[in-house]
Amino acid sequence: MQEVQDVTAVIRDNVEWTKEQETAAKKKVLENSQPLPPEKQEEYDSRANEFWNNFYTIHENRFFKDRHWLFTEFPELAPQCGLNHESHPDVSGTDDDQQDSLDQVKSREVAAPPDTDGDFPGSSATYRILEVGCGVGNTVFPILKTNNDPGLFVYCCDFSSTAVELVKTNPEYDPGRCFAFVHDLSDVEATYSVPDGTLDVIVLIFVLSALHPNKMKASIIRLARLLKPGGVMLLRDYGRYDMAQLRFKKGRCLSENFYVRGDGTRVYFFTQDELHELFTESGLEKVQNLVDRRLQVNRGKQLTMYRVWIQCKYRKALVQPPETED
Ligand SMILES: C[S@@+](CC[C@H](N)C(=O)[O-])C[C@H]1O[C@@H](n2cnc3c(N)ncnc32)[C@H](O)[C@@H]1O
Repeated sequence: MQEVQDVTAVIRDNVEWTKEQETAAKKKVLENSQPLPPEKQEEYDSRANEFWNNFYTIHENRFFKDRHWLFTEFPELAPQCGLNHESHPDVSGTDDDQQDSLDQVKSREVAAPPDTDGDFPGSSATYRILEVGCGVGNTVFPILKTNNDPGLFVYCCDFSSTAVELVKTNPEYDPGRCFAFVHDLSDVEATYSVPDGTLDVIVLIFVLSALHPNKMKASIIRLARLLKPGGVMLLRDYGRYDMAQLRFKKGRCLSENFYVRGDGTRVYFFTQDELHELFTESGLEKVQNLVDRRLQVNRGKQLTMYRVWIQCKYRKALVQPPETED
């Protein structure tokens, strides 16, 4: 897991890659791109849940800490707190973020009440956030701590029952403000514990990349149905040619830009265009789609690392287009 490297210092933000660097990265990816046989691929897909359960059994909650960027990059998680002052000042489009969070608050006022069949956890809330692939709650607990809106309710799910159990047994888990449940994002037939059209925000942090690429589109379409008109989907995930991709050796590639780690968990490396297509094909509109390239140095290991992450915000239109007949 790459985010664990706490001893790492960021040397430069928003690094521009040279042509040579990009060519070298492409070459490296190509060298290690012979895919594993189909039966192996199938095995990693059908046992994905088991591999993540094993991961959490081994690591419990000793990883993925220090989410200092959470509220500066995603002020929608605590819109009333005004915490986005450091958010990518030099990336075009980001100045709109403050306006976006204001629009979010407004959309709560104008959106029609959802058509629900009665009670569900958090049914009386006025601002609902769902984190999918929540792991041990490294996003959920900071939200509960930071967002003091009395109308807030936070849902979180993961297909690893071990992870969900770790969330529920965390002393910070408050069932009056939060509901954790087991759910497989790629199972588009399964119902969520929250009705369609009821969520203000859906958060996907390093989770879409864990799905088989051919299951991503249907999963995002299903998630988009849960959003209220005006609701927003937030994503941060691995970008193409991130150091983690370049480090994969031969025998780890499942398909183009999709790999399996030594512990059986999988990871895809996205381009901005691929994510744009996934979200817009799900009927969402772009608010932000940026690439975050950083140079980090681990002084202990004398390593320089080029990290590439992609960050997206896509919104469900306030007015939905009429459904077309087939
Ligand atoms: C890289 S971890 C990120 C965890 C968390 N979002 C964080 O940032 O700390 C990926 C998470 O996605 C979960 N996951 C992978 N595939 C999933 C699926 N199909 N449905 C739900 N969760 C999934 C894993 O169990 C794991 O907790």
